[in-house]
Amino acid sequence: MAAPEPTLVDRRPGPAEITADVLAGLSMRPRSLPSKYFYDARGSTLFEAITRQPEYYLTGAEHALLRATLPRIAARVGPQARVVEYGSGSGRKTGLLLRALDDAVAYTPVEISRTALLDSVRALAGDFPTVEMLPVCADFTVLPPLPAPRRAAGRTLFFFPGSTLGNFTGRAAVALLEGMRAAMAPQGMALIGIDLDKDPATIEAAYNDAAGVTAAFTLNLLARLNREIGSDFDLSGFAHRARYARAAQRIETCLVSQRAQRVHVGGQAFDFVRGQAIRVEYSHKYDDAGFAAMASAAGLRVSGAWDAPRRMFGLRLLQPL
Ligand code: AVJ
Repeated sequence: MAAPEPTLVDRRPGPAEITADVLAGLSMRPRSLPSKYFYDARGSTLFEAITRQPEYYLTGAEHALLRATLPRIAARVGPQARVVEYGSGSGRKTGLLLRALDDAVAYTPVEISRTALLDSVRALAGDFPTVEMLPVCADFTVLPPLPAPRRAAGRTLFFFPGSTLGNFTGRAAVALLEGMRAAMAPQGMALIGIDLDKDPATIEAAYNDAAGVTAAFTLNLLARLNREIGSDFDLSGFAHRARYARAAQRIETCLVSQRAQRVHVGGQAFDFVRGQAIRVEYSHKYDDAGFAAMASAAGLRVSGAWDAPRRMFGLRLLQPL
């Protein structure tokens, strides 16, 4: 029996919204561009390629940790859960979770890349015919009302793996967690994957792979903007740079202008001097005290914690305070 084609709630940002975000970011000092726009079809494919690079330890460490701990986590979650996942991407970790859970009722991936979303939901629908697929194509920071499952659900479990939370600065991360708490109340849970602070060389290597996949991923942002909003970034005029800022506990990824140049976006001109950087991504790393404080600022407590060997990566279960 072929799985029915899932209906999609589609709130993808269009050209007008993207242009407005880009103009706002380029008008700030330092200049910045939102990392969520990395994930067009090619960006999602390049990110998948990053996860296969030997230097990018996050995915492998999290995958092994999930395999080892999901039976225990699933017992804590209980039967008939409704799973909501932010930034679900390829959905590779989702299969592990749905397999471990007892009779999950519904799965709602919230993903900004339409191709990644549809591909993953098609594959999961075939593997999990009793789990209702309710995909939402959206930026998960501006979440539309979530579609209700047909079957009565036990708890809502938010699944936010991959250390995607790390793309948000403290205040924005608290707001995201708060949104989850509001939607899960009162008996819900959130399972969050976080990259743990460690020696800077290991972290920096993960964002500067030798094959140059991360550099291609970063530069694809400019190609995407040129195609979708008609900007004229010269891709050969910018270079990828990712450095670990130790005190801030985050990777700061920039596109650095290689020469003096002018770029046009939405009828406006932006001049760059040689060496001027556009900040395109933060990837925060966490310690236990900092993460617990963030959770508590969002009205959540850490009710379970599992770490990969050598603290390469962590999973945290959160529940309302
Ligand atoms: C998918 C957001 C977790 O920040 O590590 C990987 C994205 N950027 N290499 C991360 C990313 C550069 C990734 N997240």
